[in-house]
Amino acid sequence: MADTGRQAHWENVYATKGENQVSWFQQTPAPSLELIELVGAAGSSAIIDIGGGASRLADCLVAKGYEDVTVLDLSAAALAAARARMGDKAGRVTWIAADVTAWEPSQSYDVWHDRAAFHFLTDPTDQAAYVVRLSRALRLGGHAIIGTFASDGPERCSGLVVSRYDANSLAATLGQGFELIDSRRHEHTTPWGATQKFQFSTFRRQPD
Ligand SMILES: C[S@@+](CC[C@H](N)C(=O)[O-])C[C@H]1O[C@@H](n2cnc3c(N)ncnc32)[C@H](O)[C@@H]1O
Repeated sequence: MADTGRQAHWENVYATKGENQVSWFQQTPAPSLELIELVGAAGSSAIIDIGGGASRLADCLVAKGYEDVTVLDLSAAALAAARARMGDKAGRVTWIAADVTAWEPSQSYDVWHDRAAFHFLTDPTDQAAYVVRLSRALRLGGHAIIGTFASDGPERCSGLVVSRYDANSLAATLGQGFELIDSRRHEHTTPWGATQKFQFSTFRRQPD
C-alpha cells in the first residue's frame, strides 16, 4: 500500500471507531508489560511503542514509573485519542506522528516495542525500511519486542492483508543484527469474543 493510502486508512479507522470497537483493543496490554519487564527495563530506560495507536500501553508504562516513553504512529487521530485519555499524564510521553518506514530517529532507545504494526508491512521494501529504522534507533544491547499475528493467525486485520510470522521467520526478516532471546504465543480475545493467535518475539540488538 502506498504511504498516503496507508495513512488515510488508519486516520479513517481512528476517526470513525471507538477504542473498543477495534479488534486489537486491550484493556490492559499484559503480554507487552510482562515482556518489557523481562528485558530488565529500568525507570529511566527509553522505551518506544511503534504503531502504538491509541493503545493503553503508554498509560500503563507511565503508571509504573517509566520516565522516558515515546509513542510513534502513522495516525495523528490515534495519538490524539491516547493523549485525551491520559489527560495531564500525556505530557510525560513523547508523541511522534510518522510512518515508521520513513522516520528518522533523533535519539536511541533501550526498548523497541511493536504490537501489530510490523505485520502490516507486506512489501519487502517496507520491511527492509523498518529494519533500517530499528537498527538506527535501538542501541546495541537494547531489546526489540515485536508482536505479530502468528503463522496460524488471521490473514487480515482492519481489512488489510498482513504478513504472519513465527519466531524463526521474524528473526530471518530482521537479519543477523538481532539475536532472538525469547518467543511465545499469545491468544488475544477481541472485544466481540473472537480469538486471534499472536506471536511475541524478543530480540537483543548486536553488532551486524
Ligand atoms: C492493529 S493497530 C495496533 C495498535 C497498537 N499497537 C495496539 O496494540 O493497540 C496497528 C497500528 O499500527 C499503525 N501503523 C500501521 N502502519 C504504520 C506505519 N507504517 N508506521 C507507523 N504506524 C503504523 C496504525 O496506525 C495502528 O495504530
